[in-house]
Amino acid sequence: MIHIAIFASGSGSNAENIADYFRESDDIKVSLIISNKRDAYVHVRAEKLSIPSYTFSKAEFEKGTPLLKVLREYNIGFIVLAGFLLKVSQPLLNVYAGRIINIHPALLPKYGGKGMYGDTVHRAVVDAGETESGITIHYVNEHYDEGSIIFQATCEVQAVDTPGDVARKVHALEYAHFPRVIASLVKKIAEGNQRFENK
Ligand code: GAR
Repeated sequence: MIHIAIFASGSGSNAENIADYFRESDDIKVSLIISNKRDAYVHVRAEKLSIPSYTFSKAEFEKGTPLLKVLREYNIGFIVLAGFLLKVSQPLLNVYAGRIINIHPALLPKYGGKGMYGDTVHRAVVDAGETESGITIHYVNEHYDEGSIIFQATCEVQAVDTPGDVARKVHALEYAHFPRVIASLVKKIAEGNQRFENK
C-alpha cells in the first residue's frame, strides 16, 4: 500500500475527488491532508472523508522538520499538491524528490509562477484573449510551476467566457485526469520499490 498526502490551501474539491477515486483501491490510499490554513474548507472535507488533516504555518513549512515528522508517522510515500499556495521547502524536496507533483490550472509555461493561483490564473487567460486553456500536472522543484511536465489537457476558451466559466472547464479536466495520472505515477514507484526489494 502506498500512502498519499494531499496538500491544499482552499476548498479542496480536487483532494476530495482524488480520495474518492482511491477509496476502493488496495494499493493506494489518501491517508493525510495537509494545509497552511486552519480555516480552509479542505479540513471540512477531510473530516467527512475520515482522513486526518493538519495545519502548518508558513514558518513550519519552511523549516520542514515538524511536517516531515508527520509525513513519516503516516508512512507517506507520495505527495500531491492540489491547490496549494506555498512554495515547497528544500528539506521536503530532499526527502520526496521525484515523488511530489502539482496541478496547475493553465497550460504551463504560460500563466505560472508566484501569485498565479486559482481565479487569478483564469482572469489572466481571459484578459489575454486566449482561445484555449487547460491543466498541467508537473513534478515539483524549488521554483514555482517549473518542474518537468508530466501531463497536459486542454479546453476551449470562448470570447464570451468569464474567468468563472474557464474555472469550471478547468476543474472538469482536473477531476477527469488528475486521479488516474497519480495512479499511474504511484504504480511506477511501487514497481521500482519492488525491483529494489527483490535485488
Ligand atoms: C485548482 O484548480 C488547482 O489547479 C489550482 O487551485 C485550484 C484548487 O481547487 N492550483 C493552483 O492554482 C496552483 N497554482 P480545489 O481547492 O477545489 O481543488
